[in-house]
Amino acid sequence: MSTSIPVTRPYAVNHADLLKWVDQIAAKTKPKEIVWCDGSQAEYDRLCKQMVQAGTLKRLNAAKRPNSYLAWSDPSDVARVEDRTFVCSARQEDAGPNNNWIAPAEMRSTLDGLFEGCMQGRTLYVVPFSMGPLGSPISQIGVELSDSPYVVVNMRMMTRMGKAVIDLLGQDGAFVPCVHTVGAPLAAGQEDVSWPCNATKYIVHFPETREIWSYGSGYGGNALLGKKCFALRIASTMGRREAMAGATGWLAEHMLILGVQAPWGKKYHVAAAFPSACGKTNFAMLIPPKGLDDNGWKITTIGDDIAWIKPDAQGRLRAINPEAGYFGVAPGTNEKTNYNCMASLRENVIFTNVALTDDGDVWWEGMTDTPPAHCMDWQGRDWTPEVAKSEGRKAAHPNARFTVAATQNPVIDSAWDDPAGVAIDAFIFGGRRSTTVPLVTEARNWQEGVYMAATMGSETTAAAAGQQGVVRRDPFAMLPFCGYNMADYFGHWLSLGDKLAASGAVLPKIYCVNWFRTDANGKFVWPGFGENARVLKWMLQRIEGQASGQEHVFGVSPSYADLDWSGLTFSAEQFETISAIDLSAWQQEFDLHEELFGRLANGLPPVLREIKTKLHQQLQDRLAA
Ligand code: OXD
Ligand code: MN
Repeated sequence: MSTSIPVTRPYAVNHADLLKWVDQIAAKTKPKEIVWCDGSQAEYDRLCKQMVQAGTLKRLNAAKRPNSYLAWSDPSDVARVEDRTFVCSARQEDAGPNNNWIAPAEMRSTLDGLFEGCMQGRTLYVVPFSMGPLGSPISQIGVELSDSPYVVVNMRMMTRMGKAVIDLLGQDGAFVPCVHTVGAPLAAGQEDVSWPCNATKYIVHFPETREIWSYGSGYGGNALLGKKCFALRIASTMGRREAMAGATGWLAEHMLILGVQAPWGKKYHVAAAFPSACGKTNFAMLIPPKGLDDNGWKITTIGDDIAWIKPDAQGRLRAINPEAGYFGVAPGTNEKTNYNCMASLRENVIFTNVALTDDGDVWWEGMTDTPPAHCMDWQGRDWTPEVAKSEGRKAAHPNARFTVAATQNPVIDSAWDDPAGVAIDAFIFGGRRSTTVPLVTEARNWQEGVYMAATMGSETTAAAAGQQGVVRRDPFAMLPFCGYNMADYFGHWLSLGDKLAASGAVLPKIYCVNWFRTDANGKFVWPGFGENARVLKWMLQRIEGQASGQEHVFGVSPSYADLDWSGLTFSAEQFETISAIDLSAWQQEFDLHEELFGRLANGLPPVLREIKTKLHQQLQDRLAA
């Protein structure tokens, strides 16, 4: 160790490059000490206790919510900051118009200045982690250096973290270096705040060298660098680079993975992409409704947010969940909307930005029908239902979160930790659209499926800082997460499909869904949640060639009679409201697709334009008919 900074390292490390890198970062950031994390329960408990003393965490009532904590962030640090997120590839066109880009040399010089002494007065934690089951051929290793103990305890739940990863790295294993600071150095004697952060924020990726640097935020995807930064932005570039180097390549996707046990005795696996805060966790844990085949269905969770997908030797696409926990949106979650999620949250949870009840438990909007008569809101202010009415003030921040280990999920799939992953039978893409897009559509082939996913739109939510409720194109629900040019990403999907088809493999079917169409009063028509199993059933029957559908401009959708309605009262008129294809709305929709393609023109695979022309022509023909 070249610096005189005290080091606690409870295990041997024989990886010279790792030791050297930690030294270099410590010399720059100047922490008061360095602690290598072992991932143990004792370490977790010690850090939580320390954060309770520092005011970062509150321990919840142990009788109501055992071993659980609540954090309230700084009100300025509540969501991913997309406008402060950068992909600094050597060439701007490789980052594409979907990413903020600054030349690597310029960004490095900015970061150099920002990181100089940025950890003064704080502890630098070394957090070794594996994305995916330890030792799986699909998994990857990262090491996050962070001055936030909140990050350490969250990383322990969200990844496989600690000494076992160091052992796996051995003397020269590859790892993705991730450096994170809250950007709030402490002068000698300066008192800390409960949620240190900085008004200046940078979330930076260097895809060629696979580095991640994050400055100024302690929240979610800005700070837990295994999630969006590594498992999506960096991993997506890794999967494509392998393809460019001549291998088949792989996919890093913003997708949940679920297992479906069908009453006819067959198990399926489905991966589904939805933008942030559109119900991925709910879908991943759904309970099929009573009445649907006498509940002969069972849905199990492999993952709720991210999938890494690779072809096996037979060309079948197999997926793992690189994460080991859920960082889910709390508001709206309750026993009715997501029973299994609520059951996962009974103990061992870290809540962030939900409200604190007078008896030391948590509450958020939608958790119970009747709100508590009084609680402390996420900013520590008195909150009552009257305050909510008169001031419109929410008790929980709309992007309030829970962090919980996947193993607490009562419907965890038995293969969730299988290094071989699970074989995918179908991909689902969904957005939040109050109009235009029908409940479910099957793509007629892989290329049309890629077109569907590429042109997906969704109304924005609180998961990202910025205006909410406006439709933005969110191709594959990857707009904020694709680490390279989105046009090249479409090309990667298309060529993967071509390669697999050429090898004789059966490709998964592709579907587009929309649970969010509203009626004339702006109310959701489709009951959603567990009832989405009816849509799943139709998809699986289609895979088996056992259900019919109606072909329209965009693909194939069920008519009312094609879905199983047993146990649900939902009229043909209601179905029409969420399934009708409004040709003039589609005319406008195609204009928006064209606008998207205009923005992504550089490198856009010609086949997507050809599909657009064909679909558009079909629409014109129908309009003229
Ligand atoms: C998330 C997100 O946190 O998509 O998963 O924003
Ligand atoms: Mn997500």
